[in-house]
Amino acid sequence: MITPSSRLEHLATSVFSDLAAKKSLKLQKGFDMIDLSIGSPDLPPPEFVKECLAKKVKKNDQYGYALSGTEQFKEAVAYYYKNRFNVNLASNEVLQLMGSQDGLAHLALAYLDKGDIVIVPDPGYPIYSASVHIAGGELYPVTLNEENNFKADINIIPEEICKRAKIMIVSHPGNPIPTLVDRHYFEKLIDFGKKHNILIVHDFAYCELLFDQNKPLSILSIPGAKETAIEINSLSKSFNMAGSRIGYIIGKPELLEPLAILKSHIDYGVFHPIQAAATQALTSNYQFLEESTAIYQKRRDVFIHELHKLGWNVQVPQGGMFIWAKIPEGWTSLSFALAAIDEGVIVTPGHAFGDGGEGYVRIALVQSDDRLIEAAQRLKPLITKL
Ligand SMILES: Cc1ncc(COP(=O)(O)O)c(C=O)c1O
Repeated sequence: MITPSSRLEHLATSVFSDLAAKKSLKLQKGFDMIDLSIGSPDLPPPEFVKECLAKKVKKNDQYGYALSGTEQFKEAVAYYYKNRFNVNLASNEVLQLMGSQDGLAHLALAYLDKGDIVIVPDPGYPIYSASVHIAGGELYPVTLNEENNFKADINIIPEEICKRAKIMIVSHPGNPIPTLVDRHYFEKLIDFGKKHNILIVHDFAYCELLFDQNKPLSILSIPGAKETAIEINSLSKSFNMAGSRIGYIIGKPELLEPLAILKSHIDYGVFHPIQAAATQALTSNYQFLEESTAIYQKRRDVFIHELHKLGWNVQVPQGGMFIWAKIPEGWTSLSFALAAIDEGVIVTPGHAFGDGGEGYVRIALVQSDDRLIEAAQRLKPLITKL
């Protein structure tokens, strides 16, 4: 028997495989399932993006190794950041990625040595902790809960952890918890990073999904942020380009360089037509973004209205793609998610994102208004069981 690396033990996703098995059994039996468990947009990219991609793939000169981001792409990111978040970027402050996942997965490998710590949110998006296991580092999870308004409280992180920590990851609005933060919160985080020499990484994947006139806040818009912070972003959620992999990490060139060096050994860049289509998206008039946000906000409103009517008073998110729903008494995250499958709705149990997620389920707003209303109705027996 040729045994795999023991580091894979930390990457086991038994929660997801249990659910996937139950879901596929239901589908095989012909049940109609409403899948609210995935964070992949159900809507297409803008028409002009698809057209650009289609035109480019026909050209013979598009198929060589790209190696790195084109100058046009980097300038497009700078243009977008200036227009959307009032952040000034030079083109050497942009490192192209094959989606944010690429950057998040490899950052720990580029930065950590044995014994180094990464401070991650708990619950948090799974690659934050998986990347640390892959790199052989140590984790310090900070709990996000109602008491701390779902924001990492840096004041309670022990001094010895701060000394050994090299990276801290935050995400607002995040996945699974879509909390927004204000400038003051980021200022404190930047002071913390500077004081302890910690790289603050802001995952800004949901930067375009803010509701009720809330404005997105890039951590790099805080004066002095570039000394200690970098931001990861992509076009997956904003322009519905999740499958055509492209993203970027921005900040001071010296802070990006370790990742650039590592990546130069791992991949040969993003397919040129995708780079060109992303460049067009980032320099468009952004009307698509406004329309897309309106669609998600309406979904949130109709779904939550229905849940509240049924007596499930879940918190109303002000951004992001998810509802982080505290489950009714009498359930665990898993028992609720499994029972929901029996009713024809798939949600993700909160503990799939860390121990701190127990007691919650994550519901993705990735279906039409009508399907969401139907999903709420199907969940009624679970809610009224109380
Ligand atoms: C918080 C967060 N970060 C990063 C990603 C990865 O996105 P991508 O690699 O498509 O940019 C996701 C995907 O769901 C996410 O939810």
